[in-house]
Parts: sequence; C-alpha cells; structure tokens
Amino acid sequence: MPNAIVTGATSGIGNAIALKLLSLGYTVKGIARSKPSITHTSYCHTQLDLLDTHALEHFCKEQVDVDVLINAAGIGLFKELDYFTTQEITTLLDTNLKAPLLLTNLLTSKLKRNQGTIINISSIEATKHSRLSTIYTATKSALQAFSLTLFEEIRKSGVKVSNINPDITDTAFFDTLSFKPTDDKTTHLIPEQIADAVEYILSDNNRVITDMTIRPQRFALEKVKRK
Ligand SMILES: NC(=O)c1ccc[n+]([C@@H]2O[C@H](COP(=O)([O-])OP(=O)(O)OC[C@H]3O[C@@H](n4cnc5c(N)ncnc54)[C@H](OP(=O)(O)O)[C@@H]3O)[C@@H](O)[C@H]2O)c1
Repeated sequence: MPNAIVTGATSGIGNAIALKLLSLGYTVKGIARSKPSITHTSYCHTQLDLLDTHALEHFCKEQVDVDVLINAAGIGLFKELDYFTTQEITTLLDTNLKAPLLLTNLLTSKLKRNQGTIINISSIEATKHSRLSTIYTATKSALQAFSLTLFEEIRKSGVKVSNINPDITDTAFFDTLSFKPTDDKTTHLIPEQIADAVEYILSDNNRVITDMTIRPQRFALEKVKRK
C-alpha cells in the first residue's frame, strides 16, 4: 500500500483528499490540531500544530516510507494591511508557507527514495490580486512559486511536484470570515472536486501537472456580519 501524508485532514479540502486517497488504497497519515474526523482502518491521525516546528521535525523523523505529501492545511484572514497585527501576519505566514516548506524539506529525501509526489494546495489568490488579500496572497503566491521551483530542482530524481489553485470552495475556511460562498452551486466548488483533481494528478506516472487552477463557472460571494 502506498503511504500518503495529508495536512489539514480534519476538514474541507484536506479531509476530502484524505478520503479520496483511502478510497484509492493509500494508507493515510493525517495531521491537524483537532481530533480525527475519519475512521478507517488505513487512516492514522497525528494531532499536531503545524506552528510547532519541533513536533513537525519529530513527526517527519518517524516516517519511513512516504509516497505522497499533500500540504492542504491553511488559514485565511482578509482585511486592509494596516489592520493586521504582527501576530496575525506571523500566524498566516507560518501556517500557509513556513509549515509546508518545512514539511517538504524534512520529507524530500524519503519522497526521492520512492519517486513520490508532492501536492501543495495554494489558492486562486496566487494567480490574481484582490483587495484585502495582501498577506494571504503573499503566502499562496510564494507556495505556488516554491512548488514550481522545487519541481525544476528535483524532477531528475523522479519526484513530481504539483500546485493546485482552488477558487472559492465551500468549507469551514469561511467560518470566521466576513464573506462566504453563496447557496448557488455554480458559484463555488466543493472539496470533492479538489480531491478529484488530486486523483487525476496521481493517475499517470508519465506526466507531471505542475500547476492547476480550478474555478466555478460563476463568481458570487455573500457578505456575513460578525461581531
Ligand atoms: N475554501 C476555499 O475557498 C479555499 C480556496 C483556495 C484555497 N484554499 C486553501 O485550501 C486549504 C484547505 O482549506 P479548507 O478550505 O479546506 O479550510 P478548512 O476547512 O478550514 O480546513 C483547514 C484545515 O487546516 C488545518 N489547520 C489549520 N491550521 C493548522 C495548524 N496550525 N496546524 C495543523 N493543522 C491546521 C485545520 O485543522 P485543525 O483546525 O484541526 O488544526 C483543517 O483541517 C487551505 O490551505 C486554504 O488556504 C481554500
């Protein structure tokens, strides 16, 4: 059985990808701060805060065989730059960028041994420039650039690197934000569509999809009032 590590496996896109990989016969090691939301004999959960670099190093040292690494965990915060605190900027950078870079760094030699695949979940925001998204866009564009650069560096080792840029996807990502997807299904994706993209990326060993953008047909968002 091939082995996959999936960050953010408790919710949304990471959860759908973990379930997809289990259905494809992978053994999945999921990472998140909360308890597992998946019960499957081939699923093993590690409760870990990706901001804890010592815990990350310890987790990676324990891994022997790694075929697929999915960096899906991430958070969003959208407001004018001068309203961000230093702590908020640090947390966004550390969660969305530093953690996937460190995990990839710590697991690359193991992925090389198995000619494995790294898939990073970036965002549509890496491909455009939206108001109120300065820090989030900075983290996601950097993750996209990291993915494309890493592929050039390690393609000769047989490791594949793919970056996915999902547009608005209906998940808990919006639970604390001042906007959310509308009820109109044509204006947002669902996490299973990103998981289908992962299946497609993994389906052929003789080509590499380096960068994939997935969008709903229409654009609409609903404003949400929060205290
Ligand atoms: N939803 C969208 O519209 C959308 C669009 C483009 C890109 N994305 C990206 O897709 C990825 C997944 O987002 P989602 O929409 O699925 O959001 P979600 O439902 O909120 O899931 C986020 C996941 O990340 C985990 N996570 C967050 N911070 C963590 C930390 N410090 N340590 C460990 N795990 C952490 C969460 O688990 P715990 O809370 O249990 O730790 C959760 O499993 C993110 O990178 C996001 O930027 C989302």
